[in-house]
Amino acid sequence: MSKNNPDFQVLAPSRQNRISIVKINIRPEHPFEYRQCEALVRDAFWDRYRPGCVEHLIVNQVRTSPELVLDLVAEAGGELLGCLIATRAQVISDHQEPQEMLYLGPLAVRPDSQGCGIGSQLLSFALARAEQDGFSGAFLYGDPAYYHRFGFQNADTWAVTTPDGLNFDAFMGIELRPGGLGEVSGRLIESAAFDVDPARLLEFDAGFPAREQHILPGQLPQ
Ligand SMILES: CC(C)(COP(=O)(O)OP(=O)(O)OC[C@H]1O[C@@H](n2cnc3c(N)ncnc32)[C@H](O)[C@@H]1OP(=O)(O)O)[C@@H](O)C(=O)NCCC(=O)NCCS
Repeated sequence: MSKNNPDFQVLAPSRQNRISIVKINIRPEHPFEYRQCEALVRDAFWDRYRPGCVEHLIVNQVRTSPELVLDLVAEAGGELLGCLIATRAQVISDHQEPQEMLYLGPLAVRPDSQGCGIGSQLLSFALARAEQDGFSGAFLYGDPAYYHRFGFQNADTWAVTTPDGLNFDAFMGIELRPGGLGEVSGRLIESAAFDVDPARLLEFDAGFPAREQHILPGQLPQ
């Protein structure tokens, strides 16, 4: 399905108030969809933040990790259009018990279906579910221009840093209940399933159609 599919009817096409009424269903991923989802994630992330990508391997590794919380897909008309993973992470500091947080990502929408509200719906669904499940806050790395619209703020708002003690615009958090992050400070440690072994990546990626990697403007410094 693409944006030109008749199921996509975009109402109020202003940039601020665009409402997509594509009839997507958000649900847990089925095991028989694992490979297809990994291919979708690979297509969405390829060359975007680095030459090639690592996110399809991360999705593969995270599924079997004890920290997995949500493994969601967006589907319409029997086609997979997007997916979102959420895991447990911990904020660790010298003066507090570890605080459990939700860590969001990877989030990916099939390239031919981007810009139709699917990513927003997946993210909103996951945030609502995390709130119901009692998480006090969620963190992610991403483009502030996209995530600020959902209420994410720079993680230094709560003195939460990366594992290396850093803060930068792309590291963001959100409270899932009022004051939920008020007392939280420290380093956010995500699941070990996010660690990527370069040899394993090469081996894993060889199972997908061959694709050339490119160094492009806008990629992260490697
Ligand atoms: C980022 C992504 C998940 C967004 O999903 P989507 O379904 O395309 O987004 P939505 O339709 O919900 O929202 C579209 C809006 O987000 C904006 N947007 C999309 N990706 C963006 C990005 N990386 N940075 C800033 N804005 C972005 C669009 O310009 C559009 O803005 P507008 O409403 O003002 O016109 C999707 O584009 C994607 O898979 N990208 C590649 C992988 C990726 O970067 N994932 C996120 C990692 S943090």
